[in-house]
Amino acid sequence: MTVTVRSFAKINLGLRIGAARTDGFHELLTVYQTIALHDVIRVSLVRGSGIEIHCDDPRVPKDESNTCYRIVEKAMRALKGRGRVVIGIEKRLPVQGGLGGASSNAVATLLGLERVIEKALPAEERLRIAAEVGSDLPLFLVGGTVLGIGRGEQVYPLEDLPGTACVVVTPEVGVSTPRAFAEWDRKLTVPGASDRMVELGRGFSVWLSNSYSGAPFRRGRAENPLLELVRAGIKNDFEEVVFPEYPELSEAKDALERAGAKYASVSGSGSTLYGLFASKQAARVAVPRLRRQGWMAQATITLSRREYWKRSFAV
Ligand code: C5P
Repeated sequence: MTVTVRSFAKINLGLRIGAARTDGFHELLTVYQTIALHDVIRVSLVRGSGIEIHCDDPRVPKDESNTCYRIVEKAMRALKGRGRVVIGIEKRLPVQGGLGGASSNAVATLLGLERVIEKALPAEERLRIAAEVGSDLPLFLVGGTVLGIGRGEQVYPLEDLPGTACVVVTPEVGVSTPRAFAEWDRKLTVPGASDRMVELGRGFSVWLSNSYSGAPFRRGRAENPLLELVRAGIKNDFEEVVFPEYPELSEAKDALERAGAKYASVSGSGSTLYGLFASKQAARVAVPRLRRQGWMAQATITLSRREYWKRSFAV
């Protein structure tokens, strides 16, 4: 039996890097949002033992360094599963792109594995194993709009925001996340890192509770809370380190804004950028315009938690 799972991408709606920790990670505060762009993962179980990975993309490792391999190893042990696990990765998302592709692939593999071996891990155990493989995995066990704290691995579902049109631009540079964190430390470690986290926390809280706060109607207020991000001043700290190193990325952000994005930002540590648009139509118009300027651009939509789960297995 083969189980097919869609492995969706995420974007970061603001990200603040806090203090470097003794375990080599950094404190992080971010809101993750799943989007409809995805890879496809196929999991099957055959006679024998071990793990086998197939992927046409030469940039994807097929050995034990692959996140899918690592999660299967842990899950098979925890589930006392038997057999050889064969994983097929149909790569559509950028590799090292800030969209969480490798992390999402691992979670989709775990979900597929549970179905093929007809055993499921307790939800807490899934979260624990996912976090052991990487900071960006647990969010994909929640989906929709998700608050990420700790090193990004502690995840809390937030109220879903309305589906919002989005354009993703993928410049052809690979940004290494550990290097981007190191660069942040080298250049920008500022005193009061925890104050800066608290400040963004307040920004998130105001942004997300705006529609309930009883504030009088403001002229020109966006219909869609997601588009309020600009007004709320929410930003991704990684821009401070990746823009000077790869000027192409800040050019892509400008291009998205000129093409009509209400909010544009780097996702994760890049190199992918996204723009949020007022309508699907506006996003559709922006894509050919960006492509004419030489950018690789794709239109998509943000996925609510319900949509995320509904579409994951509807292949
Ligand atoms: O957890 P993940 O495998 O994605 O992390 C990769 C690397 O990125 C870590 O080894 C660390 O260098 C860096 N990182 C960090 N702080 C985080 C997440 C990742 O410094 N919150």
